[in-house]
Amino acid sequence: MKQKKIAVLVGSLRKASLNLKVAKQLMRLAPENLELEIVNIGDLPLYNEDLEANTPTSWVDFRNTIREADGVLFVTPEYNRTTSPAIKNAIDVASRPWGKNVWNEKPGAVISVSMSALGGFGANHSIRQSAACLNVPMMQQPEAYIGNAHTLFDENDNLTSAETESFLKNFMVAYEKWVNRLTVA
Ligand SMILES: Cc1cc2nc3c(=O)[nH]c(=O)nc-3n(C[C@H](O)[C@H](O)[C@H](O)COP(=O)(O)O)c2cc1C
Repeated sequence: MKQKKIAVLVGSLRKASLNLKVAKQLMRLAPENLELEIVNIGDLPLYNEDLEANTPTSWVDFRNTIREADGVLFVTPEYNRTTSPAIKNAIDVASRPWGKNVWNEKPGAVISVSMSALGGFGANHSIRQSAACLNVPMMQQPEAYIGNAHTLFDENDNLTSAETESFLKNFMVAYEKWVNRLTVA
């Protein structure tokens, strides 16, 4: 079976991002059949339809990357009870121009990561809301709200919680099944 390419979007741009740390753990724990790659979304100009007249190279590259992916995995922080502007901008960029939504039918999953005990529930579901509009079939279960994320890593960014490790591993096993169900072998 060929490896499935999964585009990973990390919604926080800061170097010490907890979302980035979790995304790296997902890459480590993913089944071999999935090839995860973090896609840079930090240099995409803010969506402005006027720019389509001379489409920014970074938009073209990003759209191509999503088009070529077999699935999309969103790792999102919560900003004021919704997703971050970086991830929302990336979603919007690859949804346009009208009629060329490259997210269409990509099997998706979302994991929210927050310092708060609530685990970014609002952000998680704001991704699901956009996914419905973009025809991205989202894995429903297991839901993944990673709370108190600042307590989960040591000073070398190693995951210290065996419980979280097991949860993330199971999440990726379920996502592999979801991708396999919705894509050709
Ligand atoms: C503008 C802003 C708004 C935030 N709003 C929320 C929020 O609504 N809920 C929450 O759990 N955390 C909120 N936070 C805290 C983030 O969850 C926290 O900064 C987290 O570490 C961000 O993810 P990162 O470590 O990957 O950058 C907010 C942070 C910022 C910068």
